[in-house]
Amino acid sequence: EHRVLSGMQPSGDSLHLGNYVGALVNWVTMQEDYDAFFFIPDLHGITVPHDPAELRHRTRMTAAQFLAGGIDVERSTLFVQSHMPEHAQLAWVLTCLTGMGEASRMTQFKDKSAKQGADSAGVGLLTYPMLMAADILLYQPDGVPVGDDQKQHVELARNLAQRFNHRFGETFRVPEPFIPQVGARIYDLQDPTTKMSKSASSPNGLLNIMDTDKKIAKKIKSAVTDDGTEIRFDRESKPGVSNLLSIYSAVSGKSIDELVEEYQGKMYGHLKVDLADAVVATLGPIRDRTLELLEDPAELDALLARGAEKARGIAGPLLADVYGKVGFLPAA
Ligand code: TYM
Repeated sequence: EHRVLSGMQPSGDSLHLGNYVGALVNWVTMQEDYDAFFFIPDLHGITVPHDPAELRHRTRMTAAQFLAGGIDVERSTLFVQSHMPEHAQLAWVLTCLTGMGEASRMTQFKDKSAKQGADSAGVGLLTYPMLMAADILLYQPDGVPVGDDQKQHVELARNLAQRFNHRFGETFRVPEPFIPQVGARIYDLQDPTTKMSKSASSPNGLLNIMDTDKKIAKKIKSAVTDDGTEIRFDRESKPGVSNLLSIYSAVSGKSIDELVEEYQGKMYGHLKVDLADAVVATLGPIRDRTLELLEDPAELDALLARGAEKARGIAGPLLADVYGKVGFLPAA
């Protein structure tokens, strides 16, 4: 059976629609056909300033959102990154194989470090992609389902896998990025030329899984649209409407073409009302189920511990192999 692996950061008050459509939906589909590993990269969560109590809460909440969204722990392995020391251990080896230039060319590093101020940004932002490469390579996946924005990081993981294999002998599988066709990039509702992200400038640009129905409807109603009245897909001249169509397509399963046909001659307002209904119908039940699951944190923690145990069975031997190959003396 082929294997996939992916992760989602526990930052923000909740996962957002970009995470859901760009990643989680595909995870849920893939677990049917793949041996699937999903995890919460909490180590990545401290690469920017954070609050410890918040991080703990968000890690649990992210796990609950995965489950509520349809991740089935009977089928998939679900775990928390910090429960697996192998990730940080392999990351060090990969960091030593990465060029300074290669690391500083990563666009997410450039964006995030610019936001923090070049000198005060933590070195963790620079080494973040090597940790992500370790996350991936430890499990020998065939594919890594991610949104478009993470493609460059998966490319780096591929390069590092090849480099290691070349230098120390065949060890890692070189994984493919699996990028969805629809919803690979969901944009901010208030600024449809930037991707929807937890660090959005206005909270109204961000649709969260945990938003109330009313809030979802309100945010969609106030979404920026474009000049003219025509509903068609054109990212260049109609970024706002195109984003609404992508979201609609992703949550309804209808193609963009079908939707454009359906809304011919109708007004932006119609599209927004129907879209709000469709998003509420999708996210509402996930939110409610998440809240239910959070009522029993001990059960969530136990489930994550079982996931880490399964993960360890794969990551442990692989790390031992890597340590041997790079020339570390066996501990016993
Ligand atoms: P993160 O937590 O920012 O995002 C999680 C997933 O959601 C996708 N995504 C989007 N898709 C479409 N439109 C958007 N606006 C949007 N925003 C986010 C992301 O592409 C991603 O698939 N570095 C990763 C987490 C990570 C990881 C890994 C992923 C750590 N280790 C190993 C895969 C494998 C990140 O920050 O994603």
